[in-house]
Amino acid sequence: MNQHKKFHLKTFGCQMNVHDSEVLAGFLEGLGYQEVDDVKETDIVIMNTCAIRQKAEEKVVGMIGKLKKLKRENPSLIIGICGCMVQQEKTAEMIKSRFPYVDLIFGTHNLHRFSELLTEAQESRETILDIWPEGKEVVEGLPISRKDGIKAWVNITYGCNNFCSYCVVPYVRGREKSREIVNIMMEVEGLAKEGYKEVTLLGQNVNSYGKDLGQGVSFALLLEKMGNIQGLERIRYMTSHPRDFNRELIEVISRSQKVCEHFHLPIQSGSSKILDKMNRGYTREHYLKVVADIQKMIPNSSITTDFIVGFPGETEEDFLDTLEIVEKVRFDASFTFIYSVRKGTKAADMPNQIPEEVKKERLYRLNEIQNRISREIHEVLKGSIVNVLVEGFSRENDSYLTGRTRTNKLVNFTGNKEIVGKIIPVKITEAKTWSLDGEMVQETVRKR
Ligand code: SAH
Ligand code: SF4
Ligand code: F3S
Repeated sequence: MNQHKKFHLKTFGCQMNVHDSEVLAGFLEGLGYQEVDDVKETDIVIMNTCAIRQKAEEKVVGMIGKLKKLKRENPSLIIGICGCMVQQEKTAEMIKSRFPYVDLIFGTHNLHRFSELLTEAQESRETILDIWPEGKEVVEGLPISRKDGIKAWVNITYGCNNFCSYCVVPYVRGREKSREIVNIMMEVEGLAKEGYKEVTLLGQNVNSYGKDLGQGVSFALLLEKMGNIQGLERIRYMTSHPRDFNRELIEVISRSQKVCEHFHLPIQSGSSKILDKMNRGYTREHYLKVVADIQKMIPNSSITTDFIVGFPGETEEDFLDTLEIVEKVRFDASFTFIYSVRKGTKAADMPNQIPEEVKKERLYRLNEIQNRISREIHEVLKGSIVNVLVEGFSRENDSYLTGRTRTNKLVNFTGNKEIVGKIIPVKITEAKTWSLDGEMVQETVRKR
């Protein structure tokens, strides 16, 4: 029988949370616990929550409710709730009073204290609630349990200073703080030595990396330095802010052999009036100029984006501006969201909130156009040979391997498991809306 104590970790939200969960798993594995998929078999269950939209929160509340039965069957089970949702004081209080069987509630700023918090929770009969309103300094040296050995997430900044008027992130993740460049470099060099091929640098606005460090430190400089790391093949980053995406950065990327030709540039709306109300700090024209610079300086790159439909005051005309920009830029893909009211943000109190049916109808129209364009862009790739970093077997069909191109397109193809972790040429045979099918070929292609 397996004597290891077990933990089950459920993660919601963005890559920042996914990476925080790797830290939690790192702590737990260090304490001798083993991760399990089945929540019924576990000694500890932790939910790392997201607050970005109402729906994300509702899902978590529903799931905490369901844990009651498990706790009754196994009273020594430890239930922990952490992440962005409980960083909101009222929500943390609500969870504590509505679900008294929760053992531990902690936020995003005291993740590094997890081991102590867990011990406290195990020793106490009361719910331990420990939320810090703001992080102190960046804590280095946390344990990280990475799973695949091929691709790794690496934090470069924490928090956000932008206060887009719809967004909860600055309230739940605190002010922007950059990690020292030497610490990031050390981490990535270590990963390359372990055989990792790709890193994704994480921050809510990676373009403002280093502004709080002074001495000429910038995101462009970080990318330049990282380009020299032996063994590392691909560098990605998320998320960029179109306001801060300048020519210097595009030049550095165009010169780099390692930084991928994929630009995720969340636009949110095609209407300058709405962008202003969103406090995004750029106009439609500025965005189009950045895109034109990218397309000119780095041909064949892919551009993806995020949209919010139904922001307060969005008229049909504003929405048509959004549809028009989709046709104009021809994004490879878009993440599209219905505006969700977040208490405490500026937009929550704005007049002219849009009715739910109108928001839904706009989302539908936007997705129709985007899906057509994604498909058209993929059709053009049929017959071409692309370099794919092979990640493993496809989730839907395990006789297929799966991987991504430098432009971040998902490719499924047949092959053997010896090539997992390698970059290999694949000929595209079939185009779908969100992915491509292909077959392995012998030819080699240049970098792009
Ligand atoms: N820092 C990143 C990611 C923020 S969250 C950025 O600035 O792009 C990811 C996406 O969620 C955002 O780009 C936005 O499109 C969406 N989003 C954020 N708040 C939202 C809200 N209140 N309602 C609907 N979508 C939202
Ligand atoms: Fe939210 Fe704006 Fe910060 Fe992104 S840049 S996390 S959308 S406030
Ligand atoms: Fe959600 Fe927090 Fe990320 S609110 S989107 S998990 S930073």
